[in-house]
Amino acid sequence: MNRGWGGLVLLTLLVWTGRARAQEDEDAACLRCHENVVAGAVRHDALDEGCTSCHEVTMKEEAPKDPRVAPHTTSLTEEEPALCQDCHDVPENPDDAHPPIDDEGCTLCHNPHSAPREHLLRDKPYQLCRQCHAETLPSGYLSLHAPVDSSCASCHDVHGNEKDKYLKATSPDLCLSCHKDIQKAVTSAYPHDPAEEDCLNCHVPHASRDVHLLNAYYPPGPYTVYTPLRYNLCWQCHDPEDVFGEDTGFRTKLGKNLHAVHVKRRKKSRLCTLCHSPHGSNQEHLLQTGIPFGAEGWVIPLKVTSNGKEKRCSAACHESRSYSP
Ligand code: HEC
Ligand code: HEC
Ligand code: HEC
Ligand code: HEC
Ligand code: HEC
Ligand code: HEC
Ligand code: HEC
Ligand code: HEC
Ligand code: HEC
Ligand code: HEC
Repeated sequence: MNRGWGGLVLLTLLVWTGRARAQEDEDAACLRCHENVVAGAVRHDALDEGCTSCHEVTMKEEAPKDPRVAPHTTSLTEEEPALCQDCHDVPENPDDAHPPIDDEGCTLCHNPHSAPREHLLRDKPYQLCRQCHAETLPSGYLSLHAPVDSSCASCHDVHGNEKDKYLKATSPDLCLSCHKDIQKAVTSAYPHDPAEEDCLNCHVPHASRDVHLLNAYYPPGPYTVYTPLRYNLCWQCHDPEDVFGEDTGFRTKLGKNLHAVHVKRRKKSRLCTLCHSPHGSNQEHLLQTGIPFGAEGWVIPLKVTSNGKEKRCSAACHESRSYSP
């Protein structure tokens, strides 16, 4: 290396370390009284720039006698959220910002110095959001969606984005990114149209007063007492007349309605989903290929075969029987 350059490098290094040391000394002076700001386990890297990169501090002429009174006046070097957005593209497009960013600032949710949890969050994400969105959990809910309890951010861009409700993706893609077993059902030979289209045709995303996050009444299984209201979920789109009337394919040669036989019962009314998958199946008419039975996780195979004239249902529920659609 040429000697001139070496000198320049050395000089730059000296100026740089000199400045860094001066800044360290200045920060040390602040921290003598403000130790608590760096007490959190997760530290903001921006602290490397020094306290005065964000705070303008003017010491008072005379130190106050009361140690609780600030010996200085302070102001931020820039208003929030611009102060933070100088270094962070959050959100990517400021026009999409979730309102509290401009109304309250980033520090509503983040500690600017250090915090006990990741992402410098002041509280659990769920608690932060609940301050303003308590309605996402209806009172007296029966089923709660697991990811809602851990982080709202698994589905929403918490800082805002250009999409409706700041979703990261829309249903069904959003839902299928976690529910691989349901993905198998909706890509099977006979998917249920509404499930292929949008999971929110039947489910709510956060919590429900019904079982399984359903958006209308449906009984917990495997059996129930029949009343028409019990199957409201399905009657949102299907006419009970089609299922319990003369035109059903599920009837005997003599015209006895086998839906009624199985479902319209005072005791042991068989749920629709005992025989039909609500999502999709490799058997025609969404017929389940297996029926879950008992707590041991047994699955009874269900098979419907046809000889062209009659269909035959084979399941361990009873001996194999034929019907005539
Ligand atoms: C001799 C002790 C002392 C020193 C040194 C000191 N402060 Fe303070 N500071 C205080 C006290 C006391 C308060 C008022 C109580 C509080 O908010 O903690 C205060 C308040 C503040 C506030 C909050 C002001 C507000 O309006 O809410 C900021 C920001 C601050 N100090 C930054 C700094 C920075 C940056 C430095 C270093 C350049 C510094 N302080 C040096 C004692 C000190
Ligand atoms: C990245 C910018 C940034 C840096 C760097 C920074 N602060 Fe702050 N600080 C803020 C903002 C923004 C607030 C006001 C938000 C709030 O009310 O907590 C704040 C508030 C404070 C307060 C008052 C509220 C509190 O948390 O006690 C004190 C004291 C303080 N800072 C001290 C410091 C000290 C000392 C340093 C250096 C070790 C420092 N800050 C470095 C951005 C910063
Ligand atoms: C001088 C640049 C600078 C400024 C100003 C700044 N930050 Fe940072 N911030 C960083 C750097 C560098 C990191 C560490 C690298 C990263 O995770 O992006 C960081 C990390 C973070 C993280 C943690 C990211 C994670 O994934 O864990 C949060 C949250 C954050 N900053 C919020 C803020 C907020 C709020 C403000 C305004 C009060 C702010 N930052 C101002 C530079 C800055
Ligand atoms: C309403 C609360 C809230 C506000 C306001 C907020 N954040 Fe966040 N931020 C979060 C949550 C929650 C996470 C964690 C997201 C996750 O788990 O993926 C996060 C994550 C981050 C991260 C790390 C991951 C990422 O998305 O890059 C950065 C950096 C960050 N925020 C910066 C900011 C800045 C800068 C602002 C202001 C412009 C801000 N935040 C305003 C709640 C908020
Ligand atoms: C300080 C209050 C406040 C906090 C805290 C807050 N939000 Fe918001 N949020 C709002 C406001 C105001 C709106 C816009 C008004 C509206 O459309 O309901 C909004 C809108 C939304 C929307 C879009 C709703 C729609 O109908 O388009 C979502 C999703 C959202 N917030 C999620 C979150 C998440 C996730 C968190 C926690 C990380 C959070 N919010 C924290 C005030 C807040
Ligand atoms: C499993 C994904 C998922 C999680 C986790 C989630 N949401 Fe949502 N959220 C959605 C979907 C999907 C919608 C759109 C519902 C619609 O269009 O009917 C939504 C809508 C919203 C809305 C708009 C108003 C409404 O109820 O339709 C707000 C506000 C909201 N969510 C806040 C939150 C908050 C706060 C959390 C955490 C406590 C959270 N979300 C967790 C998927 C989720
Ligand atoms: C981040 C991953 C994730 C996303 C995205 C997600 N879920 Fe879930 N979901 C889970 C987990 C974890 C459970 C609990 C374990 C299980 O039953 O698989 C669950 C459970 C469920 C349950 C059963 C609840 C019960 O009480 O029986 C339904 C229904 C459900 N999710 C529907 C949806 C729908 C609809 C969407 C899209 C709006 C969605 N999920 C998006 C992770 C996710
Ligand atoms: C036609 C109404 C309907 C649609 C549309 C629907 N579901 Fe379901 N879902 C149900 C019913 C009913 C149950 C309860 C099943 C039972 O009792 O066996 C259920 C149960 C679930 C469960 C928990 C039990 C299991 O089978 O793992 C998950 C997870 C689930 N649905 C996810 C989804 C996803 C993801 C979508 C979108 C691709 C979706 N659902 C669309 C009606 C529907
Ligand atoms: C014991 C099993 C079983 C139960 C329980 C059951 N189904 Fe079916 N369902 C069938 C069979 C088998 C077929 C196919 C008939 C054929 O081969 O054409 C069918 C056909 C259907 C069809 C196509 C139209 C028709 O009637 O042929 C609809 C719609 C239907 N079921 C809805 C329902 C609803 C809604 C419920 C609950 C109220 C229900 N099913 C309960 C076995 C059942
Ligand atoms: C959001 C509307 C909607 C809801 C809710 C709904 N379905 Fe469907 N279902 C459809 C549509 C659309 C089709 C395809 C057209 C058709 O065959 O009627 C269909 C088809 C079916 C079929 C196949 C019919 C055949 O002939 O192959 C069965 C079985 C069925 N649904 C059962 C159910 C059951 C059981 C429920 C309640 C758990 C239910 N559906 C809830 C809209 C819905």
